[in-house]
Amino acid sequence: MSRQPLRTAVLVSGSGSNLQAIIDASVRGGLGVSLDLVLSDRPGVGALERATRAGIPTCIVPAAPGGDRSAFQAGIRRALDDLQPDLVVLAGFLRILDAATVSAYGGRMLNVHPSLLPRYPGLHTYRRVLANGDRTHGATVHFVIPELDAGPGIIQYRIAVRPEDTEETLRQRVQRGEHQIYPRAVAWLAAGRAVFREGSVWLDGQRLEHPVVVDEADG
Ligand code: GRF
Repeated sequence: MSRQPLRTAVLVSGSGSNLQAIIDASVRGGLGVSLDLVLSDRPGVGALERATRAGIPTCIVPAAPGGDRSAFQAGIRRALDDLQPDLVVLAGFLRILDAATVSAYGGRMLNVHPSLLPRYPGLHTYRRVLANGDRTHGATVHFVIPELDAGPGIIQYRIAVRPEDTEETLRQRVQRGEHQIYPRAVAWLAAGRAVFREGSVWLDGQRLEHPVVVDEADG
């Protein structure tokens, strides 16, 4: 039996290269989602242009002047609840959603984070990896839970840190990987292959002890 495409909202704040990877995969076919809304907290960002070019409706929910966090959170919640998405994809969204919204979309909200979680939740992951002399780095697509960057990982992209790497080269290499793993995770959800249950990720009926790992191709 073929499944209905998942109604999907993508939340963005920046250039939208991950959004683009998801749009491209969806155009190629087989992703199993309909991209129904791109929501940004910032006007004028590249992600909004990419959405418009792809014919996806956009909306902007700006952070309230004077820092009224609850008004901003309510605006996001209203935009999502109006759409009733089956899936919420955070793709470079730089705001922290409140616990009520995360819980309302629990098991249906994904994020991509530029580290091999649980290592390096939070900001400046590239800088911290270099400062600590780590040998590996990467990105994780994970289910979102109220605790920041702490939800269980579905898939990771892993690179070997090279002696000549800088924050910028790490960022470029890791982002290339994000563009591979994010559409893959979305497709797994849409196909019902990946689910969030009892605090864990289940893939093809098996509880994942660790995320699936994709290594950067040699060379
Ligand atoms: C990504 O590298 C992701 O890891 C982080 O924010 C960045 C967004 O980039 N959460 P883009 O807007 O998708 O180009």
